[in-house]
Amino acid sequence: NVFGVVLAGGIGSRMGNVEKPKQFMEVGKKPIIIHTIEKFVVQPQFERIIVLSPKAWLNYTKDVIRKYIREKDKIDVIEGGATRNDTIMNAISHIEKQYGLDEETVIVTHDSVRPFVTHRILEENIHYAREMGACDTVIPATDTIVASADHEIISDIPDRSQMYQGQTPQSFKAWKLRQVFEALTEEEKKILTDACKILVLKGEKVHLVQGEVSNIKITYPHDLRVAEAILGGEKTC
Ligand code: CTP
Repeated sequence: NVFGVVLAGGIGSRMGNVEKPKQFMEVGKKPIIIHTIEKFVVQPQFERIIVLSPKAWLNYTKDVIRKYIREKDKIDVIEGGATRNDTIMNAISHIEKQYGLDEETVIVTHDSVRPFVTHRILEENIHYAREMGACDTVIPATDTIVASADHEIISDIPDRSQMYQGQTPQSFKAWKLRQVFEALTEEEKKILTDACKILVLKGEKVHLVQGEVSNIKITYPHDLRVAEAILGGEKTC
């Protein structure tokens, strides 16, 4: 069984002072989260799609889904967690309670604010999560990555040909992910903002899926203009 998990539990603080979390802001006359959910509902391999949003925005999320999405019966809207990984764990608990979980259950977790995910990326995520247990969507790093441990002096410049930028989806066998996550100390949990890193730290293999430059994450106000431009381009294609 494969579940789509759309992560919308954040508040989008880097977007600045806006009246709603960024996933509900509109691009191309539709909330960003709707563009994202549209990509999930047309993917027949998803048994259900779980959308996680902040507690205060649960009803709002349900309302916009009702307004824009025809296949709304395939979607459960539930509360996210305090951190992104807690949000993922809420999704896993929900799936376990409502639909049952076994070692083969796959979750495709995706940022609600990456509306340009493609059918190919979703397909490959499902494939590699099934075959390999876990995968991460990435693109080759365009800029050289410069590391600085103290934020003043360069500590390392890793070979760019080995560097990638992480996108989402990140897909997993849910059982294994939770098992490894629960074994972490509270300290480890605090540093692990990235779900794939949970597995990497514990020596588990995570396969790469090729992302797309257009699979951007809407983070800053500038990204809204980039998103409008991408949408404009899609229309003229
Ligand atoms: N997210 C989530 N649960 C959280 C935190 C984040 O589901 N507790 C989701 C966000 O809603 C977003 C995705 O994870 O779709 C990527 O995170 P990010 O871009 O960092 O979103 P925010 O945390 O909302 O933004 P910011 O860091 O600017 O506050």
